[in-house]
Amino acid sequence: MEQEEAEPHVLMFPFPALGHVNPMLKLAELLSLSGLRITFLNIHRIHQTLVLHTNLQSRFSRFPKFRFQTITDGLPPNYTGGLTKLSELTHSMEAVTKPLLRQMLVSRQLGPIPTCIILDGFFSFMVDVDAEPKIPVFCFRTVSACSFWAYSSIPRLIEDGQLPVKGEEDMDRMIEGVAGMENILRCRDLPSFSRVGDQTDPILQYSVNQTIQSSKAHSLILNTFEDLEGPILSRLRSRCPNVYAIGPLHAHLKSRLSGEITRPEPESSNGYWKVDRSCLAWLDAQPSKSVVYVSFGSVTVMGDRQFREFWHGLVDSGRRFLWVVRPNLVGGKDGENGIPAELVEGTKERGCMVGWAPQEEVLRHEAIGGFLTHCGWNSTLEGIVSSVPMICWPQFADQLTNSRYVSEVWRIGVDMKDVCDREIVARMVNDVMENRRNELMGSVIETAKLANTSVEEGGSSFRDLERMINDIRLLWR
Ligand code: UDX
Repeated sequence: MEQEEAEPHVLMFPFPALGHVNPMLKLAELLSLSGLRITFLNIHRIHQTLVLHTNLQSRFSRFPKFRFQTITDGLPPNYTGGLTKLSELTHSMEAVTKPLLRQMLVSRQLGPIPTCIILDGFFSFMVDVDAEPKIPVFCFRTVSACSFWAYSSIPRLIEDGQLPVKGEEDMDRMIEGVAGMENILRCRDLPSFSRVGDQTDPILQYSVNQTIQSSKAHSLILNTFEDLEGPILSRLRSRCPNVYAIGPLHAHLKSRLSGEITRPEPESSNGYWKVDRSCLAWLDAQPSKSVVYVSFGSVTVMGDRQFREFWHGLVDSGRRFLWVVRPNLVGGKDGENGIPAELVEGTKERGCMVGWAPQEEVLRHEAIGGFLTHCGWNSTLEGIVSSVPMICWPQFADQLTNSRYVSEVWRIGVDMKDVCDREIVARMVNDVMENRRNELMGSVIETAKLANTSVEEGGSSFRDLERMINDIRLLWR
């Protein structure tokens, strides 16, 4: 303990959902590489699943100053609601986890009093900054800067009457007066929960409050990079005390690990489900840039009808495809895992379905030519870094704003927003794979280059991470 007291100590606590835990783990690995002492606090249930399905233990066992600790979210062990029952989860965490965390801090169960806490900004309520012991909170928001900025603007849009939206016919109206987003966002591109603008909606209130709270934290950490979201980042810097833009984290980690001899193999996986690596052999047998990779992240669910529209669209496009069909992706009842047997059979000619893929490796594979994605922020960044043009089918939260930026600002893909129709799926797949490919690939390649440069020595994200590590060390002195 004495040695532990004699150096900075960072407590990291991710929101309990895969899209949040994964980037926090990557940040933990980066901070561990810099020699900082880290305690990573995870919700029991999430931790057990990750230990079961990923190389979590071997990935971190090489850092002597790193340790995992777990805590309850106050819900039953077999609870599966997660992000889909947000208020159930957050109420329980506020009532049970928050006081327990304080107690663990005070009793030093989590080691010496942390120099700072890196807390997921989606539950910034978890730490009262004024309570003793006072510990600086760095909020890590795992979403894009543009969606964070859009969330921040919601109260004003409601106040000046631009929200609520007056039905479907009003969805294409342009949003006005959000600095830096002029002529970009329509009502339909606002983060879900807010696009309707019902002020009484508890999820809207929660999301907006957490966004406002995290802007007031000691520091705000974002998984993005200057050359992608510079204009919005400068707006955020004028509002928040301190912003670090240190992404794309997966590329940042890969770049800093490239010289490491003890690097864990196979590559770290991002999962709640066992990774099926057989799809890599399938990809090896496909021609260059011929395959559309289809994945809707870890939370999105679809109905049986939507699943069929995608299936027909993909088959009708005439392209090869690799489709991640998570055990809980389809809400329908027929067929194993909700997938009708004839569709599984009919896929075999030109397609491959897996339950969970090594996504980062898949996206880097030579055979991949397009990415049909829900535009979760991690997936979007992974697509960007691997130079894969995207077909976006956003579903909720930040995904709606991300997909607008992909298609209209960064021009690295097409946006299917609010439509699920086989003809459109087939047309957009062919646009990305052939008809509009030349037009898109210029910006796709340029954006990937900028992303990779930002995490190399001297790049903007590299420098911001160094600044953050120095600031943590200075806080301790
Ligand atoms: C959620 C929200 O949906 C998202 O909008 C928000 O930005 C973060 O939290 P999720 O839906 O899971 O996340 O999407 P995403 O952010 O894209 O994260 C999915 C992760 O799972 C990615 O890192 C991806 O590499 C990984 N993945 C996905 C796999 O490793 N294998 C797969 O088969 C599918």
